[in-house]
Amino acid sequence: MPRSAKQKVTKAIFPVAGLGTRFLPATKSVPKEIMTLVDRPLVQYAIDEARAAGIKEFIFVTSRGKGALEDYFDHAPALEQELRKKGKDALLEVLKDTNMDSGAIAYIRQHKALGLGHAVWCARRLIANEPFAVILPDDVIAAEKPCLQQMVEAYAETGGNMVATMEASPEQTSSYGVLDPSAGASISGAVVAARGMVEKPAPGTAPSNLAVIGRYILGPSVLRNLNQMKQGAGGEIQLTDAIAEDIAAAVPTHGFRFKGERYDCGSKAGFLQATVAFALSRPELREDLMGYISKVAQVDKAAE
Ligand code: G1P
Repeated sequence: MPRSAKQKVTKAIFPVAGLGTRFLPATKSVPKEIMTLVDRPLVQYAIDEARAAGIKEFIFVTSRGKGALEDYFDHAPALEQELRKKGKDALLEVLKDTNMDSGAIAYIRQHKALGLGHAVWCARRLIANEPFAVILPDDVIAAEKPCLQQMVEAYAETGGNMVATMEASPEQTSSYGVLDPSAGASISGAVVAARGMVEKPAPGTAPSNLAVIGRYILGPSVLRNLNQMKQGAGGEIQLTDAIAEDIAAAVPTHGFRFKGERYDCGSKAGFLQATVAFALSRPELREDLMGYISKVAQVDKAAE
């Protein structure tokens, strides 16, 4: 078994440098990753998922204007003192999840928006020679067992590189990285061997319907591939291309068909759907919200 298959994944990169223009004007002063689903920012869902998968070091690739993210993960002594004084223990408990151990979190600036591959490459010195995870906080996944944990378990068997995948319709594949499954690979099991990956293939040219979703476990050779700074789809340095290069160099790479529901929180419609889904999963909100939704649906139907 290759050495990497036995090496534990303890570091994760969170690329959060994007401008979030689809959510302007909100993102003029609030980083997209701080926008909340019910009462927790997107980035909290990502961190919780990473923790559940055994991640110990959290590396954020940020850009100008993302200071609120750093504050979010810091202790807030004045607020904590106030809550303690008022005996609000439950709220103090809620805040605990937002705190990071000293040295467990690092922020690196991506100075130019050159693409996802470039953002990941910015963290190369903190990764050094280990396998690492990448989590895109825009992709929020509701699952009984958190998605990255499912992947870490599968990765313990496969090693190499692993990317989360989801079935997409032919109209959707051009918005994603798409897996090219190996000849003869079963595409109905959880783990699908890949012989290639293509970033945002032109309509009608996708090698499969397996779209890559924002969870990756990658070997350090992917970072070395990124050193070449090759431009890909949209003129950007693409993570997909660096993984495809690994595949060409015979590094075993697999798609992982996770169990769970993925929400594209980079789009308004996806963000709203996630808001409803996460609110409905909260016992204290469910009944009220259900009542409201059915009322709105009835009014809508009557108006047709
Ligand atoms: C990025 C990746 C793409 C992947 C997608 C998942 O694209 O480049 O391969 O399928 O995330 O959300 P983006 O959404 O940044 O255009």
